[in-house]
Amino acid sequence: MKQGSQIAPATGRLGVLTPGLGAVATTFIAGVEAVRRGLAQPIGSLTQMGNIRLGKRTEGRQPKIKDFVPLAALEDLVFGAWDPIPDDAYESAVKAGVLEARHIEPIADFLKQIKPMPAVFDKNYVRRLDGTNVKKGRSQMDLAEQLRDDIRRFGQEHGCDRMVMVWCGSTEVYMKPSEAHQTIEAFEKAMETNDPAIAPSMVYAYAAIMEGVPYANGAPNLTVDIPALQQLARERGVPIAGKDFKTGQTLMKTIIAPGLKARMLGLSGWFSTNILGNRDGAVLDDPDSFKTKEESKLGVLEYILQPELYPELYGDVYHKVRINYYPPRGDNKEGWDNLDIFGWMGYPMQIKVDFLCRDSILAAPIVLDLALFLDLAQRAEMSGIQEWLSFYFKSPMTAPELYPEHDIFIQHMKLKNTLRHLMGEEQITHLGIEYYE
Ligand SMILES: NC(=O)c1ccc[n+]([C@@H]2O[C@H](COP(=O)([O-])OP(=O)(O)OC[C@H]3O[C@@H](n4cnc5c(N)ncnc54)[C@H](O)[C@@H]3O)[C@@H](O)[C@H]2O)c1
Repeated sequence: MKQGSQIAPATGRLGVLTPGLGAVATTFIAGVEAVRRGLAQPIGSLTQMGNIRLGKRTEGRQPKIKDFVPLAALEDLVFGAWDPIPDDAYESAVKAGVLEARHIEPIADFLKQIKPMPAVFDKNYVRRLDGTNVKKGRSQMDLAEQLRDDIRRFGQEHGCDRMVMVWCGSTEVYMKPSEAHQTIEAFEKAMETNDPAIAPSMVYAYAAIMEGVPYANGAPNLTVDIPALQQLARERGVPIAGKDFKTGQTLMKTIIAPGLKARMLGLSGWFSTNILGNRDGAVLDDPDSFKTKEESKLGVLEYILQPELYPELYGDVYHKVRINYYPPRGDNKEGWDNLDIFGWMGYPMQIKVDFLCRDSILAAPIVLDLALFLDLAQRAEMSGIQEWLSFYFKSPMTAPELYPEHDIFIQHMKLKNTLRHLMGEEQITHLGIEYYE
C-alpha cells in the first residue's frame, strides 16, 4: 500500500463503466451531471459531503474527505455502460420513473449521448428480461475478449487515464461456488467450454480485472466472491469490492440492530416485507433471483447480534424477509418492519418501521463513492478485496477466514480510519483520554 504523497495523483479523466443502465445507473449518472451543473446537491455521498476529524478534538481539524484524500473530481468523470436493452440513458431514466422531468429534461442532451454497448447476457441467469442488444460469441472467453475491446476502446475514445467498473445490472439466479470457481486455471477453462458455472457478471468481472480496472459488485450475485477472481485481482493488483448496495430496509436494519444490542435489549423476531414495482422488482419476482437477494439480506442480523455471545438476548430470533412485486409503486418502494423486542425482566415491546424509501435515490451516491474510492485504492496500490468499503454493502466480502462486519457504525469507523491511515494520520479510537492527560 502506498501512503500520502506516494499515492498516484487523480489527474486526468476517470471512466465509470456500469454493466446495467437501468434505474440505479441512470439516477447516478444524471445526479452527477446535475451536481456538475449546479442544479442539485450530492446528498448521501460521503466522498462529496462528508468531513473527517483528524488528530485530537482540540485541534479542530475537520477537512472534507474529498479535500483530505486525492479523489477524482466530479468534472473528470465520464460514463459508459452495457445493457441488453438498447435504450440510451435518457430513455432509460424516463422509463425508470425515479427522477422527475424537471431533473431529466435540462440534461437530456447529455443523457442521450450515453448509449449502452451490447451486453454479455444470458436469459438463464436473469429470466424475467429479454434484450436485443446482446453480444454473440463462440465462448465466454470470446465474450470476455469483446468486453476487453470495449473497455480499451472506451478509454481511448474518451481520453481516460483510469477506469472503474460498478455492476448495476440485474440480480442473477442463485449460484453456489463450484469447482470451476476455485482457481484461475479452472475458471479460464470453464470460460472456454461455456460452463454454466460462469455467469455473465463473472465475464464482466474477469474482463475488468484483466484490463486492470477495479470492480464493485452492486448486486448480490456471486461474481467476484470466488477464489479464482479474488486471486486474479490480487495478482493483477486490482481492487474489488462487494456485494449488494446497502439501501432501504437493510440499511435501516444495520442502523437499528447495533443500537438495540448496545442497550442489551433482546430480540425475538424481525419481520421485513416490502412492495416495489420497478424492473428490479420484476426480476426479483423470479424465485431464483429472489433467493440470491434473500441470502444477502438474511445474514445481517446474525453477525450484528452475535447470538453465540448473547444467547439469552438473541439466541432465538425469528427473521423473515419478503419482497413483493407490486407494479403501481414503481421505484418508490414501501418497506414495513415489525420488531418484537424485550426489555427488563423479559417484558415484550414492539417497534414498527414504515420506510417510504426511494431505492435508486439511496443507491446512486453509493455508486459514486465506490467509483471514487476504488480508483483511490488502485492508485494507492491496494489490491484484492477492499473490506474497508463494507459500509456500502448488504453482504460485505471478506477474506475467507474472517466474518463480515455488518454494524454500520463499525463499518463507518473502519472506512474513515483507512483514509486516515492512507494519509499517514493517527487512527481515532474515541478514547477521549486527552482530557485526562
Ligand atoms: N436500487 C437499490 O437500492 C439497490 C440496492 C441493492 C442492490 N441493487 C441492485 O442493483 C441492480 C440494479 O438495480 P436497478 O434498480 O437499477 O435495476 P434495473 O432493472 O432498473 O436495471 C438493471 C439493468 O441491468 C440490465 N442487465 C441485466 N443483465 C445484464 C447484463 N448481463 N449485462 C448488462 N446489463 C444487464 C437490465 O437490462 C437493466 O436495464 C440490481 O441487481 C439490484 O438488485 C439495487
